[in-house]
Amino acid sequence: MLPDNPRFSSGPCAKPPNFNLENLSGAPLGRSHRAAVGKDKLREAIEVTRVILGVPDDYRIGIVPASDTGAMEMAMWNLLGQRPVEILAWESFGAGWITDVVEQLKLDATVRLADYGQIVDLSKVDFDKDVVFTWNGTTSGVRVPNGEVIPVDRQGLTICDATSAAFAMNLPWDRLDATTFSWQKVLGGEAAHGMLILSPRAVERLESYTPDWPLPKIFRLTKGGKLIEGIFEGATINTPSMLAVEDYLQALKWAGSVGGLKGLIARADANTAVLETFFGQNSWIDFLAEDPATRSNTSVCLKFTDPRIKDGAAFANAVAKRLEAEQVAFDIGAYRDAPPGLRIWCGGTVETADLEALMPWISWAFETEIENLAQTA
Ligand SMILES: Cc1ncc(COP(=O)(O)O)c(C=O)c1O
Repeated sequence: MLPDNPRFSSGPCAKPPNFNLENLSGAPLGRSHRAAVGKDKLREAIEVTRVILGVPDDYRIGIVPASDTGAMEMAMWNLLGQRPVEILAWESFGAGWITDVVEQLKLDATVRLADYGQIVDLSKVDFDKDVVFTWNGTTSGVRVPNGEVIPVDRQGLTICDATSAAFAMNLPWDRLDATTFSWQKVLGGEAAHGMLILSPRAVERLESYTPDWPLPKIFRLTKGGKLIEGIFEGATINTPSMLAVEDYLQALKWAGSVGGLKGLIARADANTAVLETFFGQNSWIDFLAEDPATRSNTSVCLKFTDPRIKDGAAFANAVAKRLEAEQVAFDIGAYRDAPPGLRIWCGGTVETADLEALMPWISWAFETEIENLAQTA
């Protein structure tokens, strides 16, 4: 039996199960995003995001350009430079932020790195410095196990890329100062727009400190030393896609219908449990994440552990290609910089029954490729 929906990509992710282009017919297309009709939609996107994610009332939520990357770079370019920085990475996206901080902003940061499958020792991090990290490493399937290690009374700011975590994991807002995500991940929205969530302390930093590097208009969050409040009320810096906004609103509505954040977490956990059970029954496959406490419930990365496999990348590619050709699973090859294997998205927009249907196909593709190895040996 084929999965009803073979879309297991880690971004853009599967759209909500009730998705239909007709649902977007309420988008105010061909109208100014600054007209009341557009602004109301943008404001609603911010307000519903706040409700579903449980963001405190005194935190600002802004819709910003250039997806999660735009939101993260905006946070780093605006906030960093006032105090020492620590930057943590355990996979490719976190490593990308190191390039920004060390090579572009040229900050003398303390860099903490862990290999794919592992996580840095968070207890060693000095949170009186500004700390930049990725909550869920999308390309390794390793996430922060919980936020308690981040002191509530820290001196530094935490800048957190939560793009594959938001809407699937509990984010402790009192421990996060600048949090970012994009619509194209857990809610299966469209690309192009990012969300930037700022704590009161992050706003205080913005209003009391001006970095000594240039800030292009697309990054500017303050004017005359004051926060541009409009950005956090739906007055975007430049023109957003109202079609993408409508799609995000529909996805939020669906999220509400499955029980909000709690329901989304339960769906992602149930999805991941299907894989965990399968890995438990098959000795040739396992999570890439070593410590169960750090295992992602969205971007689940797996490795083939059969000793007969000599060229891991070729083997995993062949499995992924075979599954795609059968219309069983699209886009499940490991990320290009990650160790060979597969990556199967388990966020809430994926139906558990589709993962259950996928598992026997993984066995089939594995066995077929192992036979191929024997024949070509
Ligand atoms: C952890 C993480 N950060 C950043 C990005 C980049 O996101 P975007 O393409 O939405 O800017 C991704 C996308 O996969 C990601 O997983």
